[in-house]
Amino acid sequence: MKTKHLTSIRDLSGAEIMDVLVQTKKLKALSYKGKNPQAMKGKVLAMIFQKPSTRTRVSFETGAFQLGGTAIYLSSHDTQLGRGESVPDSARVLSRFCDIIMARVFGHSDIENLAKYATVPVINGLSDFSHPCQILADLFTIYEKGRKINKNLKVAYIGDGNNITHSWIFAAGKVGFRFVSASPSGYEPLKEVVEEARRDAKKSGAVIEVTNDPVEAAKGADVIYTDTWASMGQEKEHDARVKIFMPYQVNQRLVSSAKKDCLVMHCLPAHRGEEITDEVMDGPNSIVFDEAENRLHVQKTVMIELLKNAVSLRS
Ligand code: CP
Ligand code: NVA
Repeated sequence: MKTKHLTSIRDLSGAEIMDVLVQTKKLKALSYKGKNPQAMKGKVLAMIFQKPSTRTRVSFETGAFQLGGTAIYLSSHDTQLGRGESVPDSARVLSRFCDIIMARVFGHSDIENLAKYATVPVINGLSDFSHPCQILADLFTIYEKGRKINKNLKVAYIGDGNNITHSWIFAAGKVGFRFVSASPSGYEPLKEVVEEARRDAKKSGAVIEVTNDPVEAAKGADVIYTDTWASMGQEKEHDARVKIFMPYQVNQRLVSSAKKDCLVMHCLPAHRGEEITDEVMDGPNSIVFDEAENRLHVQKTVMIELLKNAVSLRS
């Protein structure tokens, strides 16, 4: 991995993404044997949260601890960031104390500014635009289930064209698989993201499709993926969105359009009975809790790799 920060899947090449999956497989096996490399011994991870989290917080904090380091949780409500200290100044200050900064923010420009002004690696733990750690964990989960991530893999994303969708689209373009997103009209992923990934697809052989037809998208899919219909920050739109998105619910009928052995995935938290039914989430095709666990393993790989490049940031 050559990048100094993980702000987006854009920071990685297709080969680097695949390398993260290979490294994570080894690291997970070592972790299960209680043999975690101590790559963060004496190191501190700062975790800025402008929004709530269960998985991201716990997986990063646990990961830092398992690698011999420690983590500090910084809610923006309880820090000077919440009182208007600028992101550049916060980045400069945290870099004097900590060895990695992970941040969950609203505007993606906050991640970009952290990366610009920090002298330590910055990791995007979700912005309104993207969620790269999640999609690396998702790809690792597919890979660990023995599926080949190539042109023959069809991933169908059903629901809101959001931060998760954008990271999937970038990943498809880089690695080279088929990605189809189905969203209601007006809720499609950003056009510029699709266009950028289609440029990458010329090299990787990826196929990226955007449709409004969930059944067409699910047809013959190897992976059916969904996410909440109202992301953090869109709570007020929830009720209106439920009405618009109901035809996009991942239920047994929709899953039966996909391959029989398709993998059902969700980044979580799920809104059971909305974007996914209990029957599907608890059914035989669902791998959502393996997917959640893999946030831990993949992020440990990311932290180890970024720390290798960290020296050049300070000079
Ligand atoms: N998937 C995910 O990022 O979950 P949290 O919001 O719980 O961190
Ligand atoms: N799209 C969701 C993902 C949560 C992990 C959100 O931004 O709230």
